[in-house]
Amino acid sequence: MSAVDTEVLVVGAGPAGLSAAALLAEYGVRSITVSKHPGTANSPRAHITNQRTMEVFRDLGLEERVRAVAVPNELMGDNVWATSFAGRELARLKAWGTAPLRQQDYAAASPTAMCNVPQHVLEPLILDGARERGADVRFSTELLHIWQTDDVVHAVVRDHNTGVEQTIRSRYAIGADGGRSTVAKKLGFQFDGRSGLGHAVNVWLHADLTRYTAHRPSTLYWMCQPGNDYWIGSGTFICVRPWDEWVMVFMYDPAEGRPDMSEEAVTARAAAVIGDPEVAITVKSISEWQINHLVAREFRRGRVFLAGDAAHRHPPANGLGTNTSIQDSYNLAWKLAFVLRGQAGPELLDSYDAERRPVGRQVVDRAMKSVEDMRPMSEAFGFHPGQSSEDGWRSVDDLFADTASGRRRRQALSEAIDLQNFNFNAHGVELGQRYDSSAVVPDGTMDAGSDRDPELYYQPTTRPGAHLPHVWLEHCNRRMSTLDITGRGRFTVVTGIGGQYWLDAAEKVAAEFGIELDGVLIGPGSEYLDVVGDWAQVREIDERGCLLVRPDRHIAWRSHDHGDDAVGMLRSVLAAVLHRC
Ligand code: FDA
Repeated sequence: MSAVDTEVLVVGAGPAGLSAAALLAEYGVRSITVSKHPGTANSPRAHITNQRTMEVFRDLGLEERVRAVAVPNELMGDNVWATSFAGRELARLKAWGTAPLRQQDYAAASPTAMCNVPQHVLEPLILDGARERGADVRFSTELLHIWQTDDVVHAVVRDHNTGVEQTIRSRYAIGADGGRSTVAKKLGFQFDGRSGLGHAVNVWLHADLTRYTAHRPSTLYWMCQPGNDYWIGSGTFICVRPWDEWVMVFMYDPAEGRPDMSEEAVTARAAAVIGDPEVAITVKSISEWQINHLVAREFRRGRVFLAGDAAHRHPPANGLGTNTSIQDSYNLAWKLAFVLRGQAGPELLDSYDAERRPVGRQVVDRAMKSVEDMRPMSEAFGFHPGQSSEDGWRSVDDLFADTASGRRRRQALSEAIDLQNFNFNAHGVELGQRYDSSAVVPDGTMDAGSDRDPELYYQPTTRPGAHLPHVWLEHCNRRMSTLDITGRGRFTVVTGIGGQYWLDAAEKVAAEFGIELDGVLIGPGSEYLDVVGDWAQVREIDERGCLLVRPDRHIAWRSHDHGDDAVGMLRSVLAAVLHRC
């Protein structure tokens, strides 16, 4: 059997694996990515792409390409519940930060906006980005075996086209091989939680619904026909392309047998959900998936890491599937690059588990809770399994009646809709990750928490472990985000007027450590202008203080003011973060 050596083996070319491949290539790390499938995703699957993920694409120079094919944020927001597209609207919620009061929260938090990009459209763009950077991505190549010794990860892969098996030896490996991860199984990763908690069918279809959707543009339309066969709805439509391409998702209870999944049956279901016999429906594909609630007990075993669904498996609520997967890779790739280049000790890699496992836990629990929180909607509509259609319609009439019961039920519906904000406007969950690990040096301050609900609202802070807050600066008469002057695989020192001494120190320490360490001075008369004073509002440090920002734009450390020995401080902090002691 032939053998090949590389620095990192990435198993899986979904959102997690492709992002890892692109980022590793960007950072100059040699990697081989294998996927058992013949190509990228063959159906829309996940689609909500949040601001942190768009920031990763922005760092990679891919943001504009993604935006060019995405459904923009302004066409995502009118979350509708109705008896059918042509039927009675029951409820609506402005989602994904599109409500006027939320727009400002989202706009203030990031230089980029959330969008809707189906996975089969997104993945080829990340693949192109990875290959343009020299990544070696091999499809139809299945991992059969993987094991590790002290220094090497050994993998056996088979090329499905030729049947030829090959050994790949790597310094490290990333198991980004999805919810049925071979890597996790072969290396004995353990999981907490349960699987098979719900059964769903995705039907990808064409149907021109412009007349029912253009005036209430949304990513999601929850159709709940009175007398429906399951509490979560008769068929939720996810927008793939406005307004003629969709995924219809429906749930079923296996205890009642498998639903008829023939093309005729799913077309009839879609027709009922649309409620207009004039609308032509063409089914493109049908697939099944399950609701799982699982997190790996460890994200790292020796030289092998789990990322994406391989590490955390959860329902699509909150739209966190691909987002968390891509953000895992953003956390891990720079650490691998630093360790492989000899710029950091291997202990830096422990921080991946310490930082991303709590995120995985939070995301899995939040998504599961959001699924459970949909039940009050159904209850407020007065729908329950086994109910006749007549009973269901009576309940709808009562809900909108000018009666004491109608008023009570409308109040209950309003409360149920409010609860949906934790699913559809959970900005704090999307952006608010704060890390606590050996790759962050505390500054002695307490986490002040959040002024508002931490799941619903993102609270920027420069406390070590938090993500660098975004504000707009001006550079050479161009608007530029604080995020744009950091990232790109490098550490950055950010200071203000009077902080030149941090920049001098950064240059000296960078040379000593053999790393790239950018220095940025924000303030009047400098290259980066805080023209309206937004940076002064959020930086939480004195003008002459400094932030040390990691390549993934999380803050490694901060000094509140000038200090006495900038070189000594930066040296000791970087030694700690990079495990160079
Ligand atoms: P992902 O599963 O995307 O990729 C795994 C990769 O590993 C693939 O390239 C595969 O070929 C490869 N692989 C697996 N075993 C291998 C082996 N032994 N050797 C080599 N390669 C191997 N999420 C969401 O948020 N909203 C949604 O609506 C949906 N809908 C949905 C529908 C369907 C049908 C599926 C299957 C999944 C969803 N999801 C979803 C989940 C979402 O797609 C998921 O969270 C992300 O794809 C996770 O990305 P990963 O890169 O981690 O794994």
